[in-house]
Amino acid sequence: MKADVSKPEEVKNYVDQTVDRFGTIDYFFNNAGISGSGKFFLDSTIEEINQIVGINLLGALYGARYVSEVMVKNGGGSIVNTSSSAGVIGQDSVVTYSATKHGIVGLTKSLVAEYAKDGLRVNAIAPGPTETPMVKAFYEANPEMKANATRGIPQKRLGTPEEVAELVTFLLTSKAEYINGEVIRIDGGFTNTK
Ligand SMILES: NC(=O)c1ccc[n+]([C@@H]2O[C@H](COP(=O)([O-])OP(=O)(O)OC[C@H]3O[C@@H](n4cnc5c(N)ncnc54)[C@H](O)[C@@H]3O)[C@@H](O)[C@H]2O)c1
Repeated sequence: MKADVSKPEEVKNYVDQTVDRFGTIDYFFNNAGISGSGKFFLDSTIEEINQIVGINLLGALYGARYVSEVMVKNGGGSIVNTSSSAGVIGQDSVVTYSATKHGIVGLTKSLVAEYAKDGLRVNAIAPGPTETPMVKAFYEANPEMKANATRGIPQKRLGTPEEVAELVTFLLTSKAEYINGEVIRIDGGFTNTK
């Protein structure tokens, strides 16, 4: 089912349709996001700021809002929100993106404060540069940044989507039953050296 996460009515619709079909929601990977143009903040337009916030932060809040309601009503569930290295440290060229990804950290921790007692587990992942289509497109537009990024990673390579998927699967399932409100970095040591 397709939905634009920046439109609350479309998020509510996919949640409602999922519950109609499956009865409840056990796991939710709140992952949609965009990187933005990579321009310095003073060169970015208000339209771009609104777009990044609308998808990365409001979109994640809408998903969390409607899915948590279903989970709490049905005895609990597990959510993984996607933050970023830029959600745990400051980075240039991604000021708005970084603001939204720091917001994901607040969403994660505070949801736990309110609803862990109702069986909700909410964690966040903070990937470093990972070779997905988004990053490939970003580095094609900003080639000098790819060399910089790899140089700054202690493991000297980007992460893979498969490595991130393993972490998300672990966090979602009962193997991580007592892990709640954490932000797990998966970045080859990148933020550890900052
Ligand atoms: N790749 C990285 O290096 C990296 C690092 C840290 C965090 N992240 C985060 O990981 C998540 C996934 O990014 P990715 O690298 O796989 O990028 P991607 O562009 O390959 O995938 C992003 C996905 O989000 C979807 N999406 C975008 N806008 C949407 C909208 N309005 N409604 C619904 N879906 C929408 C796209 O269709 C796509 O499937 C994002 O939140 C991103 O910020 C990525």
